[in-house]
Amino acid sequence: MHSSLNCAACGSDHDVDQLQNLCKSCGKPLLVHYDLESLKGTFTPEVVRGRSTRSMWRFLEVMPVADPAEIVSLGEGQTPLLKCRPHGAFEGFSNLWVKDESFNPTGSFKARGMSAAVTRARALGATSVALPSAGNAAGAATYYAAAAGMDCVLFMPEDTPPANIIESAVGGARVHLVNGLIGDCGKLVGTGRERFGWFDLSTLKEPFRIEGKKTMGYELAFDVADASGVNELQLPDVIFYPTGGGTGLIGMWKAFDEMEQLGWIGSERPRMVVVQAEHCAPVVRAFEKGADSAEMFENARTVASGLRVPAAIGDFLMLQVLSESNGTALAVSDEELLAGVREMAGGQGMFLCPEAGAVWAAAKRLCDSGWLDAEERIVLFNTGSGLKYNHLYPPGDLPTLDHTDPDCLDALG
Ligand SMILES: Cc1ncc(COP(=O)(O)O)c(C=O)c1O
Repeated sequence: MHSSLNCAACGSDHDVDQLQNLCKSCGKPLLVHYDLESLKGTFTPEVVRGRSTRSMWRFLEVMPVADPAEIVSLGEGQTPLLKCRPHGAFEGFSNLWVKDESFNPTGSFKARGMSAAVTRARALGATSVALPSAGNAAGAATYYAAAAGMDCVLFMPEDTPPANIIESAVGGARVHLVNGLIGDCGKLVGTGRERFGWFDLSTLKEPFRIEGKKTMGYELAFDVADASGVNELQLPDVIFYPTGGGTGLIGMWKAFDEMEQLGWIGSERPRMVVVQAEHCAPVVRAFEKGADSAEMFENARTVASGLRVPAAIGDFLMLQVLSESNGTALAVSDEELLAGVREMAGGQGMFLCPEAGAVWAAAKRLCDSGWLDAEERIVLFNTGSGLKYNHLYPPGDLPTLDHTDPDCLDALG
């Protein structure tokens, strides 16, 4: 790893080999930079294709690790790009795909970020990590910390989906429920970390989770090339991303930039679409106002718990991505996003998380408005497994058949 650590806002330099969180000068996120020039010609798509590593760590040269023996991996990444049937609203769209992140360990894309962050934290001497989470990050942190032999301390809003709480408790994390939102949980981590010696793994307050999530961008270039039957790496024309803290969005944008510097792709970029929930849409609201940062979204609520982030520290970076990519941002209601989950389940055979149900609903809206073209290559992100949200779909009064009654099938009509 030949890298430096710089503030994403003021650019100031930080020691990449020190355990740290935000910029010491201005309090904004730190981003890692690699010596990509020196990798040109030796780190190539062919080299990556030829590797037997079955995880995101096949992009080793652009990952935050000095020695491969330090890697904490549970097999994250290399998720499938699934083709959608061109029907319904998308009749005629032959290049509509879902990048299905539910295939990751712990069932969500959070595995990528946690693998990178826990790898780096352990290498730099941390023995316990703490974070706020309203959902999937908790489970991922728990299991990567367990694999690394570290303690994991979690602060979760009390209305976090039961599956996320249970998987974390089963995995041995110290789980604390909090009568507030994720921001309130983050404050508790901030206060407790000095006192108890935890390392703060909060997204974008920790510099390496984004390095894991950026691998979604690297993978897409290979996936789209494979799906198009060509050797040269290709990016899609449009990417829909369910956005909370925005780490995945910012990470993918970083990956595209790195790939261009490596000479893997040209200057073409997808239009990035931020999708949020109607009652928690700080980035959408800022985008609509043309602002370069987002205000706190009061009384945030949505059943899509990963989107319940009323204020994100990377707000300015997300807005930069939207502007540079000529993208857009839109919010959908909880009813629409849950209807999106059901449509994708019955229509495409995929049980999406509600955050991705929002993406599907948003894509339909942009299809209706003509913003999307049937010829375009479009990727929708399913960031996690629908199974973690079973509490949203009570099966209702299903009749129980008496199999000893020979006439029991009569009621079926
Ligand atoms: C399933 C799911 N989708 C999307 C998000 C939002 O991700 P990001 O923080 O990268 O915007 C989360 C975050 O918790 C999530 O769990």
